[in-house]
Amino acid sequence: MNKSNLGLPIGTTLDRFIKRNQDEFPYATGELSQLVRDIALAGKIINREVNQSGLLDISGGFGEKNVQGEDQQKLDVIANIRFIRALTNGGEVCAIVSEEDEEVINLNPQSRYVVCMDPLDGSSNIDVNVSIGTIFSIYRRKSPSGGPVQMEDILQKGSEQVAAGYILYGSSTMMVYTTGHGVHGFTYEPSLGEYLLSHDIMKCPVDGKIYSVNEGSYNLFDQHVMDYIEYCRGQHYSARYIGSLVADFHRNMLKGGIYMYPKTAKAPEGKLRLLYECNALALIAEQAGGRATDGHQRILDIEPKALHQRSPLYIGSKSMVDKMESFVK
Ligand code: AHG
Ligand code: MN
Ligand code: MN
Repeated sequence: MNKSNLGLPIGTTLDRFIKRNQDEFPYATGELSQLVRDIALAGKIINREVNQSGLLDISGGFGEKNVQGEDQQKLDVIANIRFIRALTNGGEVCAIVSEEDEEVINLNPQSRYVVCMDPLDGSSNIDVNVSIGTIFSIYRRKSPSGGPVQMEDILQKGSEQVAAGYILYGSSTMMVYTTGHGVHGFTYEPSLGEYLLSHDIMKCPVDGKIYSVNEGSYNLFDQHVMDYIEYCRGQHYSARYIGSLVADFHRNMLKGGIYMYPKTAKAPEGKLRLLYECNALALIAEQAGGRATDGHQRILDIEPKALHQRSPLYIGSKSMVDKMESFVK
C-alpha cells in the first residue's frame, strides 16, 4: 500500500484520519473532530442531491433573493437546510453564519464552536453540470459556553480559525481541510460512502502560469488590475475561469495560479464574502504555502465588521500574488 507522508496509507478513511489526529492531542475533547465529521456528512448528502439535480425537482431558481439580493437557487436553499440540520443534530456548534441567512443562527449554547459557511458556492453553475462547492470556517467562541453567543464570537479575524475547508462537487467529490497543520484532501468514494485520503499534504506551487478572473469586467477594474492582467497576457499565461470559486481555487492550488476577484466600479467592496468565502480559502492557501490578500492587507488579518462583509480577493501561488501586489504599489 502507498504510504502517505503522514504515515497513514493513501486510502485511509476520513474517520480514521480524524481519530489519529485527535489521539495526537491528549487534551482534545473530540468536539472539533465530531464537528468535522458532521460537515463531511452534510457534504455527502449534498453530493447526492447535486448528482441528481437534473432528475429531481431541485434545479432552477427558488424565486427568492438571499441577503445579498442575489437570486437563490433551489439547491442553495436545500444545501443550507442540510448543513444546519447536520450541525444541529451534531450538537457541537453554538452559532452559524450562512450566506443564505441574514442573521446569526443560534444552536446549542453549551457548545464551543462557531461555523461560517457558504453552503453552495458557484450557484450559477448548478443547472449546467459544472463544478460547485461548499466552504466552511470554524472558530472557537470567545465568550464562555452556556451563555448567549456574542458578536465577538462571530466577528473574528481569519487568523483565529481553528479549522477551515471546502467540499468540491467536481468530476469527483473531494473534501479538503486544514486544522492549521497542513492541508489534506479526501476523495469521496460513492459506492463505499466514505471519503478516502487521496492528497496527503497539499502544496501550492510557488509560481504558476494560470490566471483566473472574470475578464468581462475588465473595464470596471482599477488601472493596476488591468495592468496586471496585461502582464499575464504578455507572459502568455493561461486564462481559466469556471465561475465557481472553490473549483477555480482548487485547480490553481494544485497546478499553480492566481485567482482574482477585484473590486469593480459596480461592486466597490468586491463580490466575495470575507467570513465564509475568503477566510477559509486564505487559511488553506497559506497552509499550502500560498498567499491571500485584498490587495493591501493579508486576508487573515482583516477585522470583520459585519456578517456579510465583502472583500476583494487575490489568492494562490505566492510569487504570482507577490507580483500582482507589486502593481498596486
Ligand atoms: P455564490 O454562488 O456562493 O453566490 O458565489 C459565487 C461566486 C464565486 O463562486 C465565483 O467565483 C464568483 O461568484 C463568480 O462571480 P462572477 O460571475 O461575477 O464572475
Ligand atoms: Mn460563494
Ligand atoms: Mn453560495
